[in-house]
Amino acid sequence: MVDKLKKIWMDGELVDWDDANVHVLTHSLHYGVAAFEGIRAYKRADGQTYVFRLREHVDRLFDTCKLTLLAPKFTREDVMKACAELLRANSMEDGYLRPMVYMGDGAMGIYAPNNPCRTSVIAWKWGAYLGEEALKTGIRTKISSFARHHINISLAKAKMAGQYTNSVLAKREAKFGGYDEAIMLDANGYVSEGSGENIFLVKKGVLYTPDLASSILEGITRDTVMQLARELGIEVKETRITRDQLWLADEVFFTGTAAEVTPVREVDNRPIGEGTVGPITKRIQERFFDVVRGTDTAHAAWLTKV
Ligand SMILES: Cc1ncc(COP(=O)(O)O)c(C=O)c1O
Repeated sequence: MVDKLKKIWMDGELVDWDDANVHVLTHSLHYGVAAFEGIRAYKRADGQTYVFRLREHVDRLFDTCKLTLLAPKFTREDVMKACAELLRANSMEDGYLRPMVYMGDGAMGIYAPNNPCRTSVIAWKWGAYLGEEALKTGIRTKISSFARHHINISLAKAKMAGQYTNSVLAKREAKFGGYDEAIMLDANGYVSEGSGENIFLVKKGVLYTPDLASSILEGITRDTVMQLARELGIEVKETRITRDQLWLADEVFFTGTAAEVTPVREVDNRPIGEGTVGPITKRIQERFFDVVRGTDTAHAAWLTKV
């Protein structure tokens, strides 16, 4: 359950939590065209709160709007200010931010071009997405029977609400089967991503991740991890990956704003490496947490002070 906070930002106003409602005719509720983001704010070692890669997340929100032909009434700067304002209004030192641009109520039917384009930002407290234990010891995963959308069926580079039905189905299937998370293949059978995470594997010291044509969201944590790995002297390759390459990997991990850097210790009942968290995953995870909430000072451009 999300713990209730004080305020939600809706179309330029800070609204009381219980009054932040939409009409049941809201177009996006029926047809799923809504752009959204997931962003984390961390209280760092200096005691201050910073939003991690805010600009990049807001840019992706506007990219999703462009892809889905949504025309927000607010600017990128407005949304960035709203995120900081909301954290302050809710006295939050760390937490998760969910900006959303969606089609409001008015006409029904698929087209409805004149329905208002609305913008909200919600904040809530969110600990480790897959659990604290998952960060320490890794998770068990299963390749899903659901494929990721083909690039011409949906918009792989959009973080659009409607296409998350695909993720929800895959996640439920994995959980009902006793696993922690699903790994999805693309329509051509190559490894794509998790239900809400990008995926990496390590083989003989090299880090591999599916390339951007593999029907994946262009994850901001994926980009962060690739940069941090290169800074650590680890070679990174973006390429197509097969299911059996995953099974034979020395290490596998997920990345995402929610999932952060979560080790994967098993895929399809096959232990990955020794079935424990591998050394490269551990190094990258440590670097990641040092950058987002520790003492690292080399990536100040990624941090927006609240
Ligand atoms: C489907 C999917 N892939 C990957 C990611 C990871 O993206 P990011 O690191 O930008 O949060 C997410 C989360 O936003 C996601 O929903």
